[in-house]
Amino acid sequence: MSKLWGGRFAQSPEEWVDEFNASIGFDQHLVFEDLQGSVAHVTMLGECGILSAEEVHEILGGLARLKEKAERNELTYSVGNEDIHLNLEHLLIKEIGQVGGKLHTGRSRNDQVATDMHLYLKNRVEEIGVLIRTVQKAILKQAEAHVETVAPGYTHLQRAQPISFAHHLLAYFWMLERDHQRFEDSIKRIDKSPLGAGALAGTTFPIDRHRSAELLGFSSIYENSMDAVSDRDFIVEFLSNASMTIMHLSRFSEELIIWSSQEFQFIELADAFSTGSSIMPQKKNPDMAELVRGKTGRVFGHLMSLLTVLKGLPLAYNKDMQEDKEGMFDTVHTLMGSLKIFAGMIDTMHVHKDRLQKAVNEDFSNATELADYLAAKGVPFREAHEIVGKLVLVCIGQGIYLKDLPFPTLKEASPVIEEDIYQVLEPLRAVERRDSAGGTGFDQVRKQIEQAAFLVQSVPSR
Ligand code: ARG
Repeated sequence: MSKLWGGRFAQSPEEWVDEFNASIGFDQHLVFEDLQGSVAHVTMLGECGILSAEEVHEILGGLARLKEKAERNELTYSVGNEDIHLNLEHLLIKEIGQVGGKLHTGRSRNDQVATDMHLYLKNRVEEIGVLIRTVQKAILKQAEAHVETVAPGYTHLQRAQPISFAHHLLAYFWMLERDHQRFEDSIKRIDKSPLGAGALAGTTFPIDRHRSAELLGFSSIYENSMDAVSDRDFIVEFLSNASMTIMHLSRFSEELIIWSSQEFQFIELADAFSTGSSIMPQKKNPDMAELVRGKTGRVFGHLMSLLTVLKGLPLAYNKDMQEDKEGMFDTVHTLMGSLKIFAGMIDTMHVHKDRLQKAVNEDFSNATELADYLAAKGVPFREAHEIVGKLVLVCIGQGIYLKDLPFPTLKEASPVIEEDIYQVLEPLRAVERRDSAGGTGFDQVRKQIEQAAFLVQSVPSR
């Protein structure tokens, strides 16, 4: 088969070489974006008088038919035609004859592929924003139900201080809020048209780049044609934002996995989001959470891979850049899938309030309360710390907790201790009293919920 660029070649590459060169196996994903870009380009060519009205009419008709066929999955691509751009041009010429060859006037595959990628990513990022919101809503729903569910809070995965379980969940809400902001902010850099940059230097045809940008819904155009065809920052940025988001989901997954273990039993994931074991009938595994945690690896990998592809490239376009696609597609697919799973998994999880309650009653996470109590009564905090530390040691020796110590023992440890100490040691009181801004005090958590609800209910800016 002769190549669309075959003029200067005496010999065609062998098929296995074509195969190595081709991207059609994966860039056929961009078929609709590519057709959309061509429609805008040819419309603009007509408006600028570069193609006749009749030529434009014929080409647009052909592109519309190709679109219908694409929707019905009826287009056949060939490796010999390398990529989605050459395949579609070839199919257009087959569809409408030689006039189809005028489509590529004043355009190069370099600005074409960049345009496709911008169109594709702009839509996906908007969809990802919506999916992040659905996860946030699920978190919010659980938080609303568990403001006064007291749970152990951890540092170093050691019991630290009691907290509101809602407070713990909401920490993930705010991580996702930053992710949402990052994606939202990235749109202004994706929302820029490279079309009309040509191969690298612009074109001699009197094109109107602003017009084709407008037709494609882009807010602005690249100021520099060389930057336009060689920029892949917007994809790196996307992969970086996706990495951050899935890193957050992975941390959350880790907690869900720990919490649903028999050792913790803080939560139970719904059957619909769990799987069984083929050999151990008693098992219910948190596979979905594990998979999200596991898939984090490939997303980080795609980020590192594209950074590495780009790091030594001279201006402008280089074929290396064809390697930008698979990682991007896979990241979109992986992240969207993970967000969808997460929304359902959080929405349907059951929180074992009783287990959380039991956990905070049987630990030393109220030790800070006692130390603060002493400090509030004038004992220097360092000294108070020492006193409480010794009491904890006494308790451990006897297999009891601070609240079980008889009053005389406490009084002996420090004369400032009064009978009200037993109230102070109550985990519920300990949480309630942490009323500093952003703290776990119930009133503070309710404020957080209000702010969070406002954010997920507000209409997106675009
Ligand atoms: N398939 C190519 C890519 O994805 C399209 C651009 C090819 N341009 C070129 N001059 N060979 O990067």
